[in-house]
Amino acid sequence: MTTNKRIVLSSDHAAIELRQAIATHIAAQGWEPVDIGPVTTESTHYPMHGHAAAKLVASGDCRFGIILCGTGQGIMMAANKVTGIRCGVCSDTFSARMIRQHNDANMLSIGVRVVGEGLALDIVDAFLTAQFEGGRHATRVEMIETLDQ
Ligand code: RB5
Repeated sequence: MTTNKRIVLSSDHAAIELRQAIATHIAAQGWEPVDIGPVTTESTHYPMHGHAAAKLVASGDCRFGIILCGTGQGIMMAANKVTGIRCGVCSDTFSARMIRQHNDANMLSIGVRVVGEGLALDIVDAFLTAQFEGGRHATRVEMIETLDQ
């Protein structure tokens, strides 16, 4: 069980309000949100925000990352370019649970134009409460890791 309670949060301009709602939600559960912005709704570029969050997870500074953009897709693609990152886009709680249990995902991406706030918070809860099952899944995650080399 990890003692690192830090979760980095980032988004593009589309998802600032939902990102802040998630930060408040996870703080109430004892997690330590590390919100790296942006803070204004001025149009910005999701790749740099996904990459910045992913670096904090890959370095071990943060245990998990939660990132958001309009669809969740673009920022997920950027995050997954960082070695050691396993990030999935989730629009349902089943997937959010499974990317932890089977894929040992360390980042979650959500599309603010896809899901409402209530479902987004449930997705976050499913992701953060699930545990990696290891076993045959560990073999497969190791196979993903070798693709980085
Ligand atoms: C921004 O308009 C939008 O393209 C972005 O939020 C995201 O959906 C990209 O994947």
